[in-house]
Amino acid sequence: MTLPSPSTHYKPDQLDIHLSEEDIQTRIREMADEINKAFANSEKLIIIAVLKGSFMFVADLIRHIKVPSQIEFVRLASYGDGQTSSGNVKPVDLSLPSLSGEDVLIVEDIIDTGLTLHFFMDYLTSLHHTRSLKLAVLLDKKEARQKEVQVDFAGFTVGNQFLVGYGLDFAGYYRNLPFIGVVKN
Ligand code: IMP
Ligand code: MG
Repeated sequence: MTLPSPSTHYKPDQLDIHLSEEDIQTRIREMADEINKAFANSEKLIIIAVLKGSFMFVADLIRHIKVPSQIEFVRLASYGDGQTSSGNVKPVDLSLPSLSGEDVLIVEDIIDTGLTLHFFMDYLTSLHHTRSLKLAVLLDKKEARQKEVQVDFAGFTVGNQFLVGYGLDFAGYYRNLPFIGVVKN
């Protein structure tokens, strides 16, 4: 087996498993049930996944969504190569169809300071008059919050530690792991 090219950032033998693949998949099914109930009367749901981190979560979540749905993607960046939020949210791709009168669900991997989602929800509400707007996050780092953001569906509350795997990266690595881990220092 060949591993990716050697990097000071990539230490697959130095991970502690924080949430197993089974923990994650079980909770995602429960979250999908909550979302199906919340949008039971909706004719159409527009799901907007925030890339890159949410690609795995949204792919697993939507398999259990029973409301007729369309999937859109936006891409925002804030972390750079470090382990703390840079504080600057960089909109990389915000192209979206009209969301006027639509039921919208934003899907994000993790909310940390809240700066990214605060920026994005402000941007959305300033441009589009949605019928409803809700937010689903897999992980909520509540202690780190700097901007108030209403989270409607949360998978797990996590502590203020840097997590990798299941879409979450450190310097671009680890996104492919099926579990969520902590890099041991
Ligand atoms: P926020 O703007 O501080 O809320 O951060 C949001 C973004 O930072 C998330 O969408 C992630 O991409 C990234 N992020 C926050 N915490 C972590 C972490 O523990 N590991 C990897 N990425 C993280
Ligand atoms: Mg993200």
